[in-house]
Amino acid sequence: QQLQMNLEQIEKGGYDHFMLKEIYEQPSVIKDTYRGRLHANEGIVQMAGVEDNIEKFLNAKRILIVACGTSWHAGLVAEYIFEEFTRIPVEVEYASEFRYRNPIINKDDVVIAISQSGETADTMAAIKLAKENGAFVFGVCNVVGSSISRESHAGAYTHAGPEIGVASTKAFTTQITVLTMIALRLGKAKGTLSNSDFHAYLQELEIIPEKVAEALETNDRAKEIAAAFKDAPNCLYLGRGYNFPVALEGALKLKEISYIHAEGYPAAEMKHGPIALIDEHMPVIVIAPKQGHYDKIVSNIQEIKSRSGKIIAVVTKGDTQVRELADYVIEIPETSDALSPLITTIPLQLLSYYIAVMRGCNVDQPRNLAKSVTVE
Ligand code: G6P
Repeated sequence: QQLQMNLEQIEKGGYDHFMLKEIYEQPSVIKDTYRGRLHANEGIVQMAGVEDNIEKFLNAKRILIVACGTSWHAGLVAEYIFEEFTRIPVEVEYASEFRYRNPIINKDDVVIAISQSGETADTMAAIKLAKENGAFVFGVCNVVGSSISRESHAGAYTHAGPEIGVASTKAFTTQITVLTMIALRLGKAKGTLSNSDFHAYLQELEIIPEKVAEALETNDRAKEIAAAFKDAPNCLYLGRGYNFPVALEGALKLKEISYIHAEGYPAAEMKHGPIALIDEHMPVIVIAPKQGHYDKIVSNIQEIKSRSGKIIAVVTKGDTQVRELADYVIEIPETSDALSPLITTIPLQLLSYYIAVMRGCNVDQPRNLAKSVTVE
């Protein structure tokens, strides 16, 4: 018993929970994920699984992304990135819906399956269906040799290392890293991304781990905000563009581990429903970095404020405009709009973590959830 406990403590590397350890591993695992694949100075981004099948990707009429849970959110971020960089139409589907709705799958579709465990039953069934219909299936998995990685025609691993906490953290950011690299490679080859943008993104992605490390410095701030909102029964997360999926992921993290009801919404969609929920008891977390629809987000924040909602805003360092309106701000380093999910996600992970800890929840093994869902 004693030995067992000590072992677990060693595995946690001095952190109270695996989740916190995994949140803190993100700078290094993002680097592990692009190491050997991204060479910003030489202008190279390549992955064997993509290079071996480059024609399939370049000739794709459409990219279909299938996944579940947090991996589905990474797919949504990828949709924005792929369409922007490559101009290939992308659809993102819940694997569980896709497999049962007689979906349209063409031979010149590329299906990307995203799965941390590589064992999720619905995702597995979705790719089998895609294969039966002649599509090319590319897996983005974390667990080496997993079922989905074996069933896919080709793939690229995320190098996040073992993820023990049920709530996915480092798998999400490394999935986005892999998907961004694919989009950059294709955007360059197709000429849909200018040379200067291509090089700028490569440089920026290479230094992202340092910015993620800087974003982790919001730890104490997250703790402070968690203390103020730990008893809230509901929570709303808003973001636009690349940060809309981050809002969904922020809400999912909070639900999963703290059991607080949370919803993520595209900020502009708020007026079509969720705004009715806003009063002085409603915490609203708004992702409002300087790049990307900033003015629009500011007016969304004003709408919340005029209804007395409590505003927690994730802003770019040095921001003054949102600071005046928000009850709390969390400052993150500046990056390009397309890469911002890798940064904006970090304080939201920390916030959920501390709220769950303060509520006395079992952070690493939340009730009713499993790390990998191998049955329907
Ligand atoms: C479960 C886990 C989630 C995960 C989802 C998909 O619900 O609790 O954290 O995002 O499965 O898992 P996968 O291994 O396919 O990424």
